[in-house]
Amino acid sequence: VSLKNFNTFGIDANARYFAEISHADEVTELFADPKWLQMPRLVLGGGSNMLMVADFDGLVIRLNIRGIEHRISHDDVFVEAGAGEVWNDLVNFCVDRGYAGMENLSLIPGSVGASPIQNIGAYGVELKDVFESCQAVEIATGDIRTFTKEDCKFGYRESVFKTELAGQYIIVSVKFRLSLNPNINIKYGAIEQELTNRGITEPTIKDVSQVVSHIRVSKLPDPSTIGNAGSFFKNPVITAEEFAPVIAQFPDVVNYPAGEGYVKLAAGWLIEQCGWKGKTVGNTGTWKNQALVLVNHGGATGAEVYSLSSQIIDSVYTKFGVKLQREVNIIS
Ligand code: EPU
Repeated sequence: VSLKNFNTFGIDANARYFAEISHADEVTELFADPKWLQMPRLVLGGGSNMLMVADFDGLVIRLNIRGIEHRISHDDVFVEAGAGEVWNDLVNFCVDRGYAGMENLSLIPGSVGASPIQNIGAYGVELKDVFESCQAVEIATGDIRTFTKEDCKFGYRESVFKTELAGQYIIVSVKFRLSLNPNINIKYGAIEQELTNRGITEPTIKDVSQVVSHIRVSKLPDPSTIGNAGSFFKNPVITAEEFAPVIAQFPDVVNYPAGEGYVKLAAGWLIEQCGWKGKTVGNTGTWKNQALVLVNHGGATGAEVYSLSSQIIDSVYTKFGVKLQREVNIIS
C-alpha cells in the first residue's frame, strides 16, 4: 500500500500491511491476533509529523475514529473528540461555539489523536494548556486506560507517549477543558501586529483564530500543494554556559528565556544564518519564508529530505556549536 496520500511530506513509500480503525474496540480486536502484535507497527493520524525514509515492512494503522462531544459545566466546557478527527476541524468547532482556549492553535495540521503525543503548540499556547485527559488502548493487553495531564508528562514537543511509553499505547480519544470566558492570548508579537493592522482593539477568539490562520498561511507552506511536516527541528534549548560564547560571537542571535539557567534559540534563525533559507537541493529544500520547514518540491524521497536535514545539522553545529534535533518522527 502506498502511503503517499497519508503523509503530508507526500513521500511515496509503501507499507506491507495497512489497517484502518474506526472504533476503539477495533484496536483490541486487531491485536488479539498475535500475528499483528509481533510485527513492527506505525500509527498514523494525519501523517503531518513524520518522514518516511524507507518502505515500512510491518503494519500501518490509520486511525479514523470520529465524533465530537461537548458538555458545558458552569463556565467550563468539556469537549471530547475521537483520535481521527482533524485537529483544525475541532478548533473551528470550538471557536464557532465560543469555546475558548484553542484559538491560537488554529490551522495546525494533523489529527486530534496525535496532538498530545508531541504536545503541539503555536503562538504562545500549547496543547497541555487545554488538555484534560485522553483514552488510550494498551497494545499488549487491549485494556483502555485514561491518562490525566500529569500522567502525560508534557514538555516542549514532548510527552510520555514519545518517551517511556513510546509505541505501547494507541490514543483513541482526547478530552479538552475549554472556557466560556475567553482568556485572550496575543502576547506573540505577530498576532498583535496583525490585529493592529486590522484595526481590532478588543479581539474575540474568532479574531485570534483568523489572525493566527493568516500568519500561518503567510509563513508556512500548505502541505496540500508543497509537501512538508511543519518545523523539521526543535528549537534547541541550551544551558547559559553554552549560550555565552554564542551570544559573544553573534550578538543578534534570536533567543528566549527557557527556565532558570537555560536559553531557547530559534532554529529557523540559526539555519537561515547558515545560508539555507529558501535553498533548493534536488527535489527538496527549505521554505522561503521559514527555514525551519523542509519541503518536498515534488518527487523527493525520504532519504533525500533526511540527507538535507543532516547537512543542515552539520552546518549549524559547525557555525554555532549547537546541535539541532529533529522534531519530525523518522520512519525507517
Ligand atoms: N526566524 C528566522 N529565520 C527563519 C525562521 C525564523 O530568522 O527562517 C526567526 C524569526 O524571525 C523569529 C524566530 O526565528 O524571530 C521564531 O520564528 P517563528 O515565530 O516563525 O517560530 P519558530 O520558533 O520558528 C515555532 C514552532 C512552530 C510554531 C511557531 C509559532 C517549533 C519547533 N516550532 O516556530 O510550530 O508554529 O513557533 O508559535 O517550536 C511545528 O511545530 O511544526 C510548528 C510549525
